[in-house]
Amino acid sequence: MTTLNIAEAGRTERTSTAELRQALPLVTVRDLEVAYDAHTVLDGVDLDLFPGEMVALLGASGSGKSTLMRSLTGFAPISSGTVRVAGHDVTNLRRGELRTLRSHVGQVFQQFNLIPRLSVLTNVLTGALHGAGPVNLVGGFTSAHRRRALELLDRVGIAHKATTPARALSGGQQQRVAIARALMQQPRVILADEPVASLDPKLADSVLELLRQIASEDGIPVLVSLHVLPLALAHSDRIVGLRHGEMIIADATSRLDAAALAPLYEERGAGR
Ligand SMILES: Nc1ncnc2c1ncn2[C@@H]1O[C@H](COP(=O)(O)OP(=O)(O)O)[C@@H](O)[C@H]1O
Ligand SMILES: [Mg+2]
Repeated sequence: MTTLNIAEAGRTERTSTAELRQALPLVTVRDLEVAYDAHTVLDGVDLDLFPGEMVALLGASGSGKSTLMRSLTGFAPISSGTVRVAGHDVTNLRRGELRTLRSHVGQVFQQFNLIPRLSVLTNVLTGALHGAGPVNLVGGFTSAHRRRALELLDRVGIAHKATTPARALSGGQQQRVAIARALMQQPRVILADEPVASLDPKLADSVLELLRQIASEDGIPVLVSLHVLPLALAHSDRIVGLRHGEMIIADATSRLDAAALAPLYEERGAGR
């Protein structure tokens, strides 16, 4: 499959943003409409995510950021448009394909969503369960899985916490575990929904830098929703912005500033 080969290529060597943009996108959304009952939540959204780029998703609360992410993994009621993710046609999934799709998408959440009483290592290992069906948590992992999980913990800087229960870690450390767990899936795409909203500013910077490094080193597109503009401006290659379900901003971060992003937070009907 062409898209997968390009993702592999992005893993082996660091490539400039311009070169990456010539690759095929791993995510393509066209004219997406999502509605809950009669309430249209996303309206005519277009989005491409290319290998290796960190894309910040901005918008006021309720603008549709989480819904857009959910629509990429088949969790939102799509009423029209097309959504393609890592070779899957999300609007038209074949039988059994949903699990494969979700195994290709690593997810990181505001509340980390770790299993508190289990060790850091076991939490990372659960990332290998995606697409595998029910597995015995204690006996179901191979030594290759364990080796890989430890390598990932080393990469995110907390290998020394491998045997500690997840609940004993700080928020910043827990989010690093969650990122390692997402990487354990060998994802084609990473979606991070407000991943630093529960962290203090310094930890927020370091977690976002880690995600950006993963994007560029592994050739994985990372879509990250944020509500703090300076964080988006400091830690993304591109910014897309939703207002009331419409994508009104989509540009390179280097071409944007706080003033250019201000319309995202204007009330409906406010002129500009
Ligand atoms: N499961 C749902 N059922 C009904 N309405 C929903 C559901 N999920 C989200 N919405 C509505 O969709 C809109 C966008 O929500 P959301 O995507 O969570 O926005 P954001 O993440 O930008 O805060 C909101 O008006 C919200 O109430
Ligand atoms: Mg949200």
